[in-house]
Amino acid sequence: MKKFLIVANWKMNPKTVAEAVREADKIEKSARKLKRVKTVIAPPLPFLGFLLGKKGIEVGAQDISPDRGIGAATGEVSGAILKRFGVRYVIVGHSERRARGEDNETVSEKTATALKEGVTPIVCVGEQKRDEEGKYLRELRDEIRKSLARVPKTRAKNIVIAYEPIWAVGAEAKAADNPEETLETVLFIKKCLSEVFDRTKADSIPILYGGSVTPKNAATFLERGGVKGLLVGRASLTPQTFIKILHHAENAGKK
Ligand code: PGA
Repeated sequence: MKKFLIVANWKMNPKTVAEAVREADKIEKSARKLKRVKTVIAPPLPFLGFLLGKKGIEVGAQDISPDRGIGAATGEVSGAILKRFGVRYVIVGHSERRARGEDNETVSEKTATALKEGVTPIVCVGEQKRDEEGKYLRELRDEIRKSLARVPKTRAKNIVIAYEPIWAVGAEAKAADNPEETLETVLFIKKCLSEVFDRTKADSIPILYGGSVTPKNAATFLERGGVKGLLVGRASLTPQTFIKILHHAENAGKK
């Protein structure tokens, strides 16, 4: 059985490297005992190096340059640098980056670069609003197609998709999605992926859910939402809370 992928998106937290290490150590102590969960922490860039080399967790970046290799690109960090540093995952096209002007074309370039350099891209997609007429599905299909436009078919199996309905993400969100609707959307996303690649390849792509995940709802998404993991923001900032989520994932579907 494949493991659930549980990703902590720390965004611009915490304030100090000491806190980051302390929190990561707490998480790692629990994570290393789990058999059915792979735990990834994506901290702010300057903290990455301090979190590497711990047995129970993988480290992820929150962004990647669309440029390859090394060279004249001030402010950018390439997949080549991340890979050689020991970073295995990168979040691409998060809604908070898209809100700052990152378009599908750039997301697609970043995804393709990550794949070429051997870093697994966690590509975020999700609608702004959900409407009764299903217009959001068109928005989602368009976003998926364009965000993956530059991905060679042969590399499709190395992508992870994070379905994050924007209305459910962050402190402003009213609530998380419910797992039944997530399942419907996940099936739709699979259909879109099989249009971009093919059915077999699409089936091999893990889809995560993100948006107001808590210890209370974590297992319901894994059991009934058709997803293979979770992308967790706020609830990943307190180790005790995030560890609860990891344990729920470890036990999901066992009862
Ligand atoms: P949230 O954030 O869990 O705080 O809603 C999720 C995310 O932005 O990835």
